This record gives sequence, structure tokens and C-alpha cells, in this order.
Amino acid sequence: MKFLVINGVNLNLTGMREQGVYGTATLEQINANIKAFCEKNGDSVEFYQSNVEGELVNKLHEAYLQKSCDGILLNAGAFTHYSYALRDAIAAINIPVAEVHMSNVHARESFRHSSVISEVCKGVVCGFGEKSYLAAIVALKN
Ligand code: DQA
Repeated sequence: MKFLVINGVNLNLTGMREQGVYGTATLEQINANIKAFCEKNGDSVEFYQSNVEGELVNKLHEAYLQKSCDGILLNAGAFTHYSYALRDAIAAINIPVAEVHMSNVHARESFRHSSVISEVCKGVVCGFGEKSYLAAIVALKN
């Protein structure tokens, strides 16, 4: 399978920001681990990160229009909790999207308990640190 891993707002600072919550591995290191995991399973993976909501929407459209992947992992960061634009973009495309969070959002502040994208995603993985991405890959594969 071909996977696209999209990380949204503030995820570029992973490994530096709030290390007690998100750990010390950088996004680059996390992506390298995801790539190794995919290659071991005969899958390929592309990575994209942006802090700009519209650019994330554009990337979802591009994946759909160019049929560039079979499954998408989306950690939208805080956009998860309020971006109807991302929700509509996910609903508009026919590629399964897994919502991913490193932290257990349900064990944190109440504003993180709701997601406006879960309903249009295939499934949700949260709380397993960087392993949340690997769990989502296994789930999408099966
Ligand atoms: C996050 C959880 C979000 O609530 C938060 O805004 C993030 C990261 C996670 O990976 O745990 O930026 O998506």
C-alpha cells in the first residue's frame, strides 16, 4: 500500500515542545521510524507537514485528484478540534483517513475531547505516542 502521513499545526516542533506530553523524538525521527516500518512491510510512504489549514486541505485534494495513495494518516493537531474545512475535505475524498494523535486527547483538557473530523475518518488512534502512527498503518492495512 501507499500511505500519506499528514501532520498539521505545531507538529513540526515535536520533540521540542511539551516533551512531557509528546516525547523527545523529533518529527524527522518519527517519520524515519514510520518509513522503516512501512518498507519492512513492503509499503511506501510520503510525508507532509504544514501549519496552514488551507495547505492541509490542498494536500488532501491533491492525494484524491492524483490518486497518489491508498490510505492517509492525519494528525491535524489543534485543527482536529475545530476545522470544518478539514472535515469537509476528508468527506470529499474517497481515500480512507485515519485520525492520529500521539497523546491521549481524552485524558487532557476538555476542548481536546471533541473532534470535528472523527465522524468522517475511518478510525481514530490516540495515546500511544509515536506508535499511534504505526498502529494506524496496521489498522488501515487490515
Ligand atoms: C495532538 C493532540 C492535539 O490536541 C494537539 O493540539 C496537538 C497534537 C496529538 O498528537 O496528541 O497539537 O494531535
